[in-house]
Amino acid sequence: MSMTDIIVRQETADDIRAIDVVNLSAFQGEAEAVLVTALRKSEDFIPELSLVAEIDHRIVGHILLSRAHLDQPAGQIDVLALAPMAVVPSQSHRGIGSALVRAALTKAASLGWRAIVVVGHPEFYAKFGFEKASRWGIQCPLPVPEESVQAIELIKGALAGGGAIRYPLALTEFFQQTKGAS
Ligand SMILES: CC(C)(COP(=O)(O)OP(=O)(O)OC[C@H]1O[C@@H](n2cnc3c(N)ncnc32)[C@H](O)[C@@H]1OP(=O)(O)O)[C@@H](O)C(=O)NCCC(=O)NCCS
Repeated sequence: MSMTDIIVRQETADDIRAIDVVNLSAFQGEAEAVLVTALRKSEDFIPELSLVAEIDHRIVGHILLSRAHLDQPAGQIDVLALAPMAVVPSQSHRGIGSALVRAALTKAASLGWRAIVVVGHPEFYAKFGFEKASRWGIQCPLPVPEESVQAIELIKGALAGGGAIRYPLALTEFFQQTKGAS
């Protein structure tokens, strides 16, 4: 398989079952598939930022970015929360996850979003320019290790004011139930 075989595109209604299967198999449990379903129904869902990776017409990966906020003393700013992302185990370590992140960053920037926050493996996300969120004084209310909370500016200076992350409700509940295990 070469990288040119991977197509990354917006999800459609026909992809929903396949996306569930990707999440069930990558995470070996149903919590993330349930999370995606809840976020898709929520007001924080952004259709253009639920992306699938396709190889030979088969869905092999998925990434979701939803609306979140940073609460600052003077008000709030809109940001994106990246969660979850998954690649089927049989196709991992082939660059599909990276292709999904890069496509999501490009699409989010083109839509005018200012910044993205993520809870995940720092080694993975650093490749795309994510840095520790604490660098900007950003606080995360979730029970997760501080170094796993990362952020990236899509517009320079967007995170200069720091702030406390306010996640979509479904995501907060997910992290409280799983304690950020994934
Ligand atoms: C994490 C995940 C999305 C990566 O997808 P992928 O298609 O394998 O990613 P890529 O091939 O672009 O990059 C692989 C690199 O990511 C990094 N990486 C992947 N999983 C990692 C992990 N659990 N811990 C640390 N780094 C990891 C490694 O640097 C890896 O490099 P390698 O292939 O040389 O070992 C995929 O492995 C997955 O679905 N895992 C289970 C679900 C999950 O943990 N999702 C992320 C949290 S929401």
